[in-house]
Amino acid sequence: MASPTAPLSELLSQHRPGHALSQPFYTSPEIYEADLETIWYREWLFAFPACMLDKTGAYQRLRIGAYDVIVIRDGKGEIVAFHNSCRHRGSVLCSAAQGRVAKLTCPYHQWTYDLDGKLLWARDMGPDFDPSKHGLKPVHCRTNAGLVYICLAAEAPDFEPFAQTVSPYLGVHDLSNAKVAFQSTIIEKGNWKLVWENNRECYHCAGNHPDLCRTYPEDPTITGVSADGTFPEKVESHFNRLEAAGAPSRFKVDEGGQYRVARMPLLDGAESYTVSGKIAVQKRLGNIPYLDAGTLLLFHYPTTWNHFLTDHSITFRVTPIGPQETEVQTTWLVNKDAVEGVDYDLKNLTTVWEHTNDEDRRVVEDNQQGINSPAFEPGPYSKTHEDGVIQFVNWYLGRMRSAHAPATLAAE
Ligand code: FES
Ligand SMILES: [Fe+2]
Repeated sequence: MASPTAPLSELLSQHRPGHALSQPFYTSPEIYEADLETIWYREWLFAFPACMLDKTGAYQRLRIGAYDVIVIRDGKGEIVAFHNSCRHRGSVLCSAAQGRVAKLTCPYHQWTYDLDGKLLWARDMGPDFDPSKHGLKPVHCRTNAGLVYICLAAEAPDFEPFAQTVSPYLGVHDLSNAKVAFQSTIIEKGNWKLVWENNRECYHCAGNHPDLCRTYPEDPTITGVSADGTFPEKVESHFNRLEAAGAPSRFKVDEGGQYRVARMPLLDGAESYTVSGKIAVQKRLGNIPYLDAGTLLLFHYPTTWNHFLTDHSITFRVTPIGPQETEVQTTWLVNKDAVEGVDYDLKNLTTVWEHTNDEDRRVVEDNQQGINSPAFEPGPYSKTHEDGVIQFVNWYLGRMRSAHAPATLAAE
């Protein structure tokens, strides 16, 4: 077993392929910091669905590690992002989690910024003061097919390959005509990588998710990343049927393994994630001509997995809070014209994933507690059921090794 005091580069090189990571990756404050620096402060991060900022001046505040960010809809209708730190003496500008403003006014000395970040007003700063040099510091921000992403890096990785790959898949879900029906934010007492490892397999589903298993197949070709590109006949004919109807469906996996998109069937006859298996929203979100079109699965490391259904969509956002604490925010999107109590019943819409999230929270927390024992030794992943987990861990190791180990070490 790797020594908990070994340097990160040594721990990275000691990793046994096909096995869980060693204990410090799930417990150490130093490795948590390295995760933030290497991954969270560099990659594109899913923020929330764009429909959450439906009006000029509407904003959401995000916290990622040490960063505090305002994402806001500006006067031109664009969604933009800024560091939530005043250019005078650094106070936060927005102290609420969300809201709507005409201008961004600092609560400390009232420096006032336009919604595009330009400094408009600063009292008695003298003749030599140049407001144009004191605009808010921007954060990279992109909206793609109704989903908002930010990137904290000085130079962001190219967003285009991801955007171009997933846009056609998302188009039929018409997220520009969505509204939030419900949002839940839960804290899981587990490292963010355990949240992902749990998400990337359904080996645990039969034993833990009675409601989800009414509609969601535990078939590993659905949760995993197909190694050889072949699928059972039933899945092939599902792809053909949906693609003929104009809904891109076949697997697309990023070469670097950061994201995957695929429209997968639900269990026979199931339409949506409800206890009955029938659609939850009568006024549907999107244009897919069938009710039993399955679920469009999209994951993008390190922040998001999603389910886009024929009647509604669900986005999930992962945010690390500490070495053993992770926030998971779930957002249920419905057609903006759907009326609660008429077109959908909120409990019927949310029950399956409210239960599933809580069940996942429990298994992640149990996983973390067991890993915290000095007796923990990383065990082998099932090649049949956990290839998605192996794929996630390899993506993580690849990112970490490129920053913390000799260039000769590549991901397995
Ligand atoms: S810190 Fe913002 S106006 Fe002074
Ligand atoms: Fe689960």
